[in-house]
Amino acid sequence: MKYVVVFYVMVGSVLALDNGLALTPPMGWLTWQRFRCITDCKKYPDECISETLIKRTADKMISDGYLAAGYNYVGIDDCWMEHDRDQEGRLVANGTRFPNGMKHIGDYLHNKGLKFFLYQDYGNKTCAGYPGVLGHEKTDIDSFVSWGVDYIKLDGCNVEVSKMDSGYPEFGKMMNESGRPMVYSCSWPAYQDKPDYESIQEHCNLWRNADDIQDSWSSLTSIMDWFAARPELASYAGPGHWNDPDMLLIGNFGLSVDQARVQMAVWSVLAAPLMMSVDLDTIRDEFKQILLNSKVIEVDQDELGKQGMRVWNKSKCEIWTRELSAGFAVAFVSRRDDGAPYTLRVTFEDMKIPKQNYIVQELFDQENIRNIRSDDERFETRVNPSGVKFYKFVPGQNNEIKRSAEVIYFLE
Ligand code: GLA
Repeated sequence: MKYVVVFYVMVGSVLALDNGLALTPPMGWLTWQRFRCITDCKKYPDECISETLIKRTADKMISDGYLAAGYNYVGIDDCWMEHDRDQEGRLVANGTRFPNGMKHIGDYLHNKGLKFFLYQDYGNKTCAGYPGVLGHEKTDIDSFVSWGVDYIKLDGCNVEVSKMDSGYPEFGKMMNESGRPMVYSCSWPAYQDKPDYESIQEHCNLWRNADDIQDSWSSLTSIMDWFAARPELASYAGPGHWNDPDMLLIGNFGLSVDQARVQMAVWSVLAAPLMMSVDLDTIRDEFKQILLNSKVIEVDQDELGKQGMRVWNKSKCEIWTRELSAGFAVAFVSRRDDGAPYTLRVTFEDMKIPKQNYIVQELFDQENIRNIRSDDERFETRVNPSGVKFYKFVPGQNNEIKRSAEVIYFLE
């Protein structure tokens, strides 16, 4: 019996993903949400999945401060390949759209201090019908290594769901054995009714839990509800392994500025990967400011790595709270559509934070910093329809705060 246990522990430790990556949720940019499977570069030269798109995005990541803000992965999702493998059975990038191949893309990104993120699928074919890795795992990992890939999103179309529980860990093990550290994003649970999250968090750096996000407020709020209904998922998140509610819609067609702030705030409470998917050449400034908000990013990237959750839900308003290494992040989300900003007056208990003195700062509008005392009955805020107020509560009191607005901003 003893030997069986020892053997099991050894096998477990060999298989477990231990690549030292994604100690905070990965940040970057990915093609899918905005550019989907646009492959006609003649008709849509600015939108097709191509070397041109990746290079112009990479350039913007640097020039507009996204890399400096922490977004360091640049990802090509589905539709980058030829429909057939080469004579040696290797994957081939589409020759028209990626005329210099994938190593060229890897080099271009690395020379700029960015990292290379690539999509593949565990099945026979990707979701869009291009070749998948099944039966070619080792060959494909060798290709990824030779191209300098730093991050693999392994989707789960066109494969039996029952194969995933062993297949995803095996693929991760082969990635580890390649010697090249690569973030491993698994879509494994998104295809299962009862995912084995113990195993998933042991073998993947992040995992898509559920359905694809679409460019609308209703899709965004349905994903929020999905996570709110499963608070137990928070326990699987931590440094090196994260739940993934999918890409950021911010800057595209479906969300208002207020709604975009909601996604940024709730994703940060969820310790979610922050993958933008937007045309960085044409994004409007107010959306760019949301993506580049360093105080919100700081919440997402908090080193404690503890995922938060929805803790309160009344009158079409919600509170989402996350414990941070120093204090708490508290998002007040309104899903109302009536009219004027809605006033909320809530208790410490409603926010699920300990009753103590706090210095409180709003992270989008930079309202005046406030002192909240442990004997205060209520915390009051006002939230726009389908909008958010996002606060950081840091334990302590600051005697300077009441003096003047200058002092308040100076304290930042
Ligand atoms: C699935 C994934 C998406 C995207 C597409 C590509 O639907 O969930 O995120 O990668 O496949 O075909």
